[in-house]
Amino acid sequence: MSAASQKTRVLTGITTTGTPHLGNYVGAIKPAIAASQDPSVQSYYFLADLHALIKCQDPRRVQESRLEIAATWLALGLDTDNAIFYRQSDIPEIPELTWMLSCVCAKGLMNRAHAYKAAVAENEVAGNQDPDKGITMGLFGYPVLMAADILMFNANKVPVGRDQIQHIEMARDMGGRFNHLYRGEFFTLPEAVVDDDVAVLGGLDGRKMSKSYNNTIPLFVSEKKLLKLVRKIKTNSLEPGEPKDPEGCTLFQIYSAFSNREEREAMRGEYANGIGWGEVKNRLFELLNEQLREPRERYIALMEDPGHIESVLLKGAERARAEAAPFMDRLREAVGLGRFA
Ligand code: TRP
Repeated sequence: MSAASQKTRVLTGITTTGTPHLGNYVGAIKPAIAASQDPSVQSYYFLADLHALIKCQDPRRVQESRLEIAATWLALGLDTDNAIFYRQSDIPEIPELTWMLSCVCAKGLMNRAHAYKAAVAENEVAGNQDPDKGITMGLFGYPVLMAADILMFNANKVPVGRDQIQHIEMARDMGGRFNHLYRGEFFTLPEAVVDDDVAVLGGLDGRKMSKSYNNTIPLFVSEKKLLKLVRKIKTNSLEPGEPKDPEGCTLFQIYSAFSNREEREAMRGEYANGIGWGEVKNRLFELLNEQLREPRERYIALMEDPGHIESVLLKGAERARAEAAPFMDRLREAVGLGRFA
């Protein structure tokens, strides 16, 4: 076995429908970039752009989001000599594997998928005759595509949010079934990794920062816009001079996620001493701006050079396909679709 194949394989995908925000950075991008620097790990990070088509049928948005997400990860220092960074849609073996897995995946398993069940429940609440109204095969079969993403590279660990654990279990199910049916150890069964220590940031309105709530602070807005957004974060009506509770306070939470222990404790003291909300916001802005200034400059430069991003991703795809293509040949042979000679 080569040294590379003994490394733990960590794989995760980012659906390309939005613009990366502070919550994405703290919850996913930062830990992923840090993990990719571990020499005992081979990481596979990809733009899940085939998944994007399930949720978004606005081609401009999909295209823009792919570029923004790629530029963001590069600007934040992802080392692409180390991590394998690619676009899902550049790997034709993935949809091919999706089909093979579809043919071993029980339909009943998909009936139980949370995303599908939620869509059906919505139809029922709305009183629609057809419980499947508006539900595409893409949404229904989404866990199969995700299983193909994971099984294709024999990932050992898949860092995800809680809502995705079920999909990893489904990938294990499909991988195990395929192995059993075709009598071989083709697929490694992946494990979900959920980090409960990473902060889930609140957004402008205090609910979880999320594109679906339209309450995000994008990572690389201009300084002016950043200040404006920080000022919009909801607070209570306590006046300067009145002691404030940092627990459950969105400003404090974001401040904490970007500061070291010392800064955080100092801010905690300021809350007890009755710092005004306007001042907390100024300090939060300073902190964020300080940390985002350099990556923001790199981001802007990258966004102006899509040709460079394209070449980085094509190189990533080449590395990914160097594994996927021979593996797919093996799988074709296993199911009876091998060459005649
Ligand atoms: N479905 C994941 C999400 O919405 C994104 C994703 C697609 C993914 N393929 C993946 C994550 C494979 C991990 C592994 O967050």
